[in-house]
Amino acid sequence: MATAGLTGGDFTDADEPLALFGQWLEDATRSEPNDPNAVALASVDADGLPDVRMVLLKDFDRRGFVIYTNFESAKGREILGSMKAAMCFHWKSLRRQVRLRGPVEVVSDEEADSYYQTRPRGSRIGAWASRQSRPLESRFALEKAVAEYTARYPIGEIPRPRHWSGFRLVPETIEFWHDRPFRLHDRIVFSRAGDGWTKTRLYP
Ligand SMILES: Cc1cc2nc3c(=O)[nH]c(=O)nc-3n(C[C@H](O)[C@H](O)[C@H](O)COP(=O)(O)O)c2cc1C
Repeated sequence: MATAGLTGGDFTDADEPLALFGQWLEDATRSEPNDPNAVALASVDADGLPDVRMVLLKDFDRRGFVIYTNFESAKGREILGSMKAAMCFHWKSLRRQVRLRGPVEVVSDEEADSYYQTRPRGSRIGAWASRQSRPLESRFALEKAVAEYTARYPIGEIPRPRHWSGFRLVPETIEFWHDRPFRLHDRIVFSRAGDGWTKTRLYP
């Protein structure tokens, strides 16, 4: 099976991580059957015990990598407690991995509002109805909550719940990994240095 990415070329020549990430994400939109922006998001609880789950990357730029969630969920409470997180993308068909870690910021209300209003109506209702990560007595209880919020917001704009917003991970490091034969993979890690980045090649 071919191991080269769709872009070809030697990614280890890259001297800047954001353009390379954008290229790999674009490649993934063509290669992955669904959710090319799916990413494992790791956090730690108050005891330092790690936790991880998949989320969807909704934005990225020089400021960082943005995901949206319920701030009262397990992940919400864990990230608000430490203001640190890590992410790991794996695009199986491209045999590529990207890892990021660093401090986390909460996105502005304006940014969260503007993303929330782009979501399908059902998802906006769902953000109100789901008490994410807390015990749910039955599927019926969830459907009842959905019906109640649908009746509360039958038409027009649905306000963003105060407990629903975005986290922006500001990477201190971004590592790119690509499969090579005999487990002799290429790994390049970019570390933030002032306004720029330093690049280091790592043993596989
Ligand atoms: C592909 C995929 C994408 C997901 N995207 C999100 C997301 O963007 N935000 C979110 O809150 N949960 C998302 N989830 C659900 C989370 O994995 C998780 O079940 C939920 O957020 C509760 O996690 P927590 O209890 O650790 O807070 C996604 C799950 C999958 C499998």
